[in-house]
Amino acid sequence: MDKLIIEGGRKLAGRVRISGAKNAALPAMAATLLTSGRTVLRNVPGLQDVRTMGRLLGHLGAQYERGTDEYVIDSSKINSHDAPYDLVKTMRASVLVLGPLVARYGEARVSLPGGCAIGARPINLHLMGLEKMGARVELQHGYAHASADRLKGARIYLDIPTVTGTENLMMAAALAKGTTVLENAAREPEVVDLADMLNKMGARIVGAGEGIITIEGVDELHSVTHDVIADRIEAGTFIAAAVITGGDIVLEGAFEGHVEAVIEKFRETGAEFENLLEGLRVIGNGRPRASDLKTMPYPGFPTDMQAQFMAVMSVAEGTSVIQERIFENRFMHAAELKRMGANISIDGAVATVRGIDSLKGAEVMATDLRASASLIVAALAAEGPTTVHRIYHLDRGYEHIERKLEGLGASVERAA
Ligand code: EPU
Repeated sequence: MDKLIIEGGRKLAGRVRISGAKNAALPAMAATLLTSGRTVLRNVPGLQDVRTMGRLLGHLGAQYERGTDEYVIDSSKINSHDAPYDLVKTMRASVLVLGPLVARYGEARVSLPGGCAIGARPINLHLMGLEKMGARVELQHGYAHASADRLKGARIYLDIPTVTGTENLMMAAALAKGTTVLENAAREPEVVDLADMLNKMGARIVGAGEGIITIEGVDELHSVTHDVIADRIEAGTFIAAAVITGGDIVLEGAFEGHVEAVIEKFRETGAEFENLLEGLRVIGNGRPRASDLKTMPYPGFPTDMQAQFMAVMSVAEGTSVIQERIFENRFMHAAELKRMGANISIDGAVATVRGIDSLKGAEVMATDLRASASLIVAALAAEGPTTVHRIYHLDRGYEHIERKLEGLGASVERAA
């Protein structure tokens, strides 16, 4: 199993290109199931999760070709409606095929994802929404089986603004008969990117990015070429890395509007930002100051950046209180950061981080994708070498991470 060995203490400097967003590429790939013909997706990151989605689409009967950052997907010969356990267990986002399959083929059988390292993560709201649109949903043998002759428009209120739930229901509603209104919908940029792609395909969606999305169903959609947006969480992770090392870097291709909450939070810690033509410049200014944090649905501070922020707070001046409000078990990185000397105490969904002068390199274990990123951020500033084990989590969500960090002057080595 691969590991990364990082020798900390170097200030990051230079430019780094931000890749396409994993969490926008995955629903875009699933959306190809809504049409026949060749869909071209550009700016798709070369990540394990993207390859898993490719395998899942292949399993359903789609044909696809992969270029450097491009996928050409042809879903005209779908012959299975089954997302099996083996694929769903390696990637929860596999559940994104549910909405498109029921909408276009009247049937989907998707393995229930089950809990994962960060929380229980049920899909009850995805299923409730499909039922409201007239699907019959049965749970059997660990699978959700949904079927319908043709979905019909409905008013659906989401108790929680679930991101993939909103995406699944938006895709399903695009081909339903009549108008669907999604209330308390997720407002994440990835939802907006999917709506943009669906509208190019001929869908009639308004309100994506706001709390209420209205989708007027159409009879068919056509294939398109679509560019996936830049990854705001990758951008945020590099911001954290620049701040913790007191570095000065430019994030090429990052869209400032998508990382506003992250920028504001790091500004409070003393970092400076500049919007340049070539991208977003981040300047770390000596030791960061402590700042409190609550994770929130977009446009709030993203849960996917909480672990990286905690790493920075572990060496900040003062005490930071961090509340995780999206997932119930997303502090697994705290125990690993403590192995590097961090002073963190956890009480339920609240972590209190008392900043120390410096972290010490250690052997640490990645438990999930963003936890891995936080350990890398911590290692970049630690004294001595840190070995991050189980980095397959990292490869699910960060493209060429060691190459990008090395390009910024970090000492990072991958070893088997
Ligand atoms: N929830 C329910 N019922 C549902 C759906 C969600 O109770 O039917 C709960 C979840 O358990 C959680 C909260 O609602 O407590 C929010 O979950 P959400 O459904 O929004 O998360 P998701 O769609 O499964 C996406 C991202 C995650 C990111 C979250 C929150 C993708 C593929 N995944 O997950 O990304 O953390 O939104 O922003 O878009 C990652 O990239 O590392 C990652 C975990």
